Amino acid sequence: MSAQQEVVLSGIRPTGGLHLGNYFGAIEDFIRFQEQGYRCYYFIADYHALTTIAERADFYREALDIVRTYVACGLDPAKSTIYRQSDLHCTAELALLLGMVANIGHLERGTTYKDKLSKLPSGPDGPEGNPLSFGLLGYPVLMAADILIVRADKVPVGDDQRQHVEMTIDIAQKFNHRFGETLKVPEPVARGAVRLPGLDGSAKMGKSEHNELGLLDDPETVLKKIKGVQTTTDPPPLDTDSDLPEMVIPQMPPTVGVLYLLLHLLAPEAVYLDFLGKYRRRDKFYGTLKSVLAEYVSKFNAPIIEKFSAPDNTDEFAKEFLRENAKKVTPIALETVESCREAMGIGHSLYRA
Ligand code: TRP
Repeated sequence: MSAQQEVVLSGIRPTGGLHLGNYFGAIEDFIRFQEQGYRCYYFIADYHALTTIAERADFYREALDIVRTYVACGLDPAKSTIYRQSDLHCTAELALLLGMVANIGHLERGTTYKDKLSKLPSGPDGPEGNPLSFGLLGYPVLMAADILIVRADKVPVGDDQRQHVEMTIDIAQKFNHRFGETLKVPEPVARGAVRLPGLDGSAKMGKSEHNELGLLDDPETVLKKIKGVQTTTDPPPLDTDSDLPEMVIPQMPPTVGVLYLLLHLLAPEAVYLDFLGKYRRRDKFYGTLKSVLAEYVSKFNAPIIEKFSAPDNTDEFAKEFLRENAKKVTPIALETVESCREAMGIGHSLYRA
């Protein structure tokens, strides 16, 4: 099958503004697939955002901001199909059907579910006391529906979502085995060579960890956040002559390492090498490193901030293409749902609104 016809799908939960970690870990890849001529589906997983809510949040607002940021970064709604999960109504229907195939033991071993379960205060009331939602347990089933409904070939995801894609493959194979070849079995694709650590030095940049540089952060905010990164006055010497980031950064204290990684991603090579020399010579350099880096981050953000608010990237524009794209995917998705209904023996729907 040619690249032209292969289907790529990925989703993102609308739980806060996008940051540099999202850019280098996902969006950059999404754009590459788009430019290589794959048929791309990138959706906002608003139902998935509901699996952990304790109170109402404005997911609609978040979704609009994310799609406008996507467009500002270079995702083109004319080339990639960008939609909201909840607008593709039949995803919920497919999730229900796949729920008849997914087994609970398997779902209970899902890392997301297990993590949340292990963080609960232990009580005497056993399973009845488990306050986690049915939706959370079924998270991988819904994700399987997202993927299988458009017959995706490739699903680019970060490491943390790989298990979910493997569960999708398992569900699809079980379905096909039990009811006959109906579903297209996808392959996971490692995405984004870069996993950006947080500004606090922790493994991953994330909105909920409050350690992120937002793609829409203005220069003042960027400078403040970078100035706030902890640095040690006496960094350990580097035990290598190599200048490659993958060789030197692991030897630095994590918070210093993230500054160098960002510099490597955003500044010309000569600037990165200059500061690496300063590190080796143990010069006093943190002050300038931080202000120079802040400038490169702001330079990266500037066109995104500008395009985010461009006259052809308003809320109204976003709503319009979300609607059009949901309309465009629906017939493809319905075909999958109808084939599953038929395969399972309840037959085609006799009425659809
Ligand atoms: N669970 C994914 C995340 O948190 C989002 C998502 C939902 C997704 N459905 C998907 C990703 C289908 C890839 C394919 O990042």
